[in-house]
Amino acid sequence: MKIFIDSAEIEEIKQAYEWGIIDGVTTNPSLIKKAVEKRQGKITMEDYIKEVLKTVTGPVSLEVIAVKADEMIEQGRFLYKKFSPYGKVVIKIPINPSLGSDSLDFDGLKAIRRLSGEGIPVNCTLVMTPEQAILAAKAGAMYVSPFAGRIDDYIRTKMGMKIGIDFKKGDYFDYNLLSEMRSLKLRESILKHGSLTDAYRSQYIKDIICVSQDNGILSGVDLVAKIVKIFRNYGFKTQVIASSIRNARQVREVAEVGADIVTLPFEVIMEMIRHYKTLEGIRDFISDVVPQYEEVFRRK
Ligand code: E4P
Repeated sequence: MKIFIDSAEIEEIKQAYEWGIIDGVTTNPSLIKKAVEKRQGKITMEDYIKEVLKTVTGPVSLEVIAVKADEMIEQGRFLYKKFSPYGKVVIKIPINPSLGSDSLDFDGLKAIRRLSGEGIPVNCTLVMTPEQAILAAKAGAMYVSPFAGRIDDYIRTKMGMKIGIDFKKGDYFDYNLLSEMRSLKLRESILKHGSLTDAYRSQYIKDIICVSQDNGILSGVDLVAKIVKIFRNYGFKTQVIASSIRNARQVREVAEVGADIVTLPFEVIMEMIRHYKTLEGIRDFISDVVPQYEEVFRRK
């Protein structure tokens, strides 16, 4: 599995590159905004992007900011032409840029189709369903980015949980535990109704099932797993970038389900390296160093 860094912070990108673990970068307008605000106008946007590209050897996803197909295509061509001399540019196109107006629903696909047809690599972003991923792959996207963390947020919110109160952004969503709880509730309901049919018909069951998933998607990791499976079923060449990753355990799980790439915020990389027993172990080893062992290093 390849690892990208999901950041526009040049210092974070440089550090992670030095650790030898990074194969590419993904950015989005929100990440770029955060990074540029930090620099307080000391550098132009253009120079900033060039700096990111020069730091990185792998692909760097840059997102368009228009929502109409023609404009996205123009912007995609522009970004690709302007910044390709500095690195490997990939153009990020939202799967559905409609902002709620149905007339733009398919503009993302049109842009993906056109840019990919011109040999410009496209990363289709904001993918929240396997169905959207299939459409992006058919249109020729080189990558699709399913947003695992945002799906977990969505399911928790549907269940009535509030971000910042019931869970924090980085909290692991335990969908396996939730599945077990759901099964217990189903069993109880079948016993109460006496027959499968009556239980299946009951509003109570529908409520439990509907709120604790998103139309058959049980979690963000489940979304990634389903897309990987579908792409493998049909030999789609499109690579799956597990995105919107919020914690280390999600990284393990998207690796288990076979994501081609995972894109990680810097904080998640930091979380991946740490474990209580590792810390305890290194403290023990260092405190057990005897002078005789130190002597070996002095006599180089
Ligand atoms: C992916 O390419 C996006 O930049 C990113 O993963 C979004 O993550 P978020 O949901 O934490 O904002």
